[in-house]
This record gives sequence, C-alpha cells and structure tokens, in this order.
Amino acid sequence: MKKVVIYQSGTGFTAKYAGWIAEKLGCEAKEYKTVNPNELAGYDLVVYGGWIMGGMVVGYDKVKALNLKNGVVFGVGMTVPSDEVAGKIAEQNQISRERFFYFEGGYNPQKLGVVKKMMVNMVKKSLEKKADKTEDDLHTLETFKGADNTRKEAIEDLVAFCM
Ligand SMILES: Cc1cc2nc3c(=O)[nH]c(=O)nc-3n(C[C@H](O)[C@H](O)[C@H](O)COP(=O)(O)O)c2cc1C
Repeated sequence: MKKVVIYQSGTGFTAKYAGWIAEKLGCEAKEYKTVNPNELAGYDLVVYGGWIMGGMVVGYDKVKALNLKNGVVFGVGMTVPSDEVAGKIAEQNQISRERFFYFEGGYNPQKLGVVKKMMVNMVKKSLEKKADKTEDDLHTLETFKGADNTRKEAIEDLVAFCM
C-alpha cells in the first residue's frame, strides 16, 4: 500500500507529528508546498496534517478539493484535546469524524510574525479576564508563555486507523 503524510506547519509542531506518523506508517512525510498535488492521486492512503488557525485546519481546503479516495486528516492546535474539541473541529472543517484526529501542539511565539502574535494575544487577554478558570484554561495560559505539549503517544489511534 502506497502511503504518504503531507503537512503544513507554521512553527514546527505539526511537522513533528507528521514525522512521527510517517515513521510508524513506514512512509515519507512531505511539506505540502513541496508536493505536486496531481501526484497524490497515485497514493492508496494520504494523511494530511495542518495546524489550526481560528478553528480551521490550515491547507485542508486544497487537499479536500483533490477528492482523494482514501484520506485521513489530523489537526494540531493549542487547545487541550478532548472528543468534544475534535468533533467541533471536524464539523467546522467538514471532515468525517472517524477520519479526523486532533493533537495538542504548543506555542512558539519566537517563530510567529507580528500579526499572528497579536491575534493570539487577543485570545490570551480574554482568557486572562475569565472569572472561573478551568484546569484546561490554566494549562492554556501556561502554554501562552511558550510550550511544546506534543506527545508521541497521541498518534496511536490515527496509526491504528491507517493499518
Ligand atoms: C493566529 C493563530 C490562531 C490560532 N488559532 C487556534 C485555534 O483556533 N485553535 C487552537 O487549538 N489553536 C490555535 N492556534 C494555536 C496553533 O494551532 C498551535 O500553536 C499549533 O501548535 C501550531 O502548529 P505549528 O507549529 O505546526 O504551526 C492558533 C495560533 C495562531 C498563531
């Protein structure tokens, strides 16, 4: 079975997951911009991973337009993972729930441009003002300081789905 992992990563967390998944599946991980989209039809399985911006899986729209026969998608954000979070993102991006996996990335402000950093700071400020902060809120506030919350074990369900 010919497989490939394609990804789009702004600051490296999605790239890290793509590398781990490719290693487990015994295939290559390629950055989306290095791939000729027409080539993807030749694969039996395409795993697409994109970082999450405003709830959207970055770059997924382009892959979706290719109508690949066997696609699996993962999104990487800084929200604490749960079935509810994954379900919401799948719905918002119109990805079938059983083919979508959500992983926690992290936050690396050093690698972000001014505009994106400002957007994140707005979210941070509103969370800081929230009255009854949950444990997840406190975790997210810690992440805003700069953190790598990636976990290799998180990919297990996706890998099992692809086998
Ligand atoms: C402008 C902007 C918007 C973001 N929006 C979300 C979001 O809606 N949900 C989320 O979980 N994370 C969001 N994040 C956090 C990133 O998805 C997170 O830092 C991710 O790990 C980045 O992955 P990358 O290193 O592959 O780029 C946002 C980050 C930026 C810069």
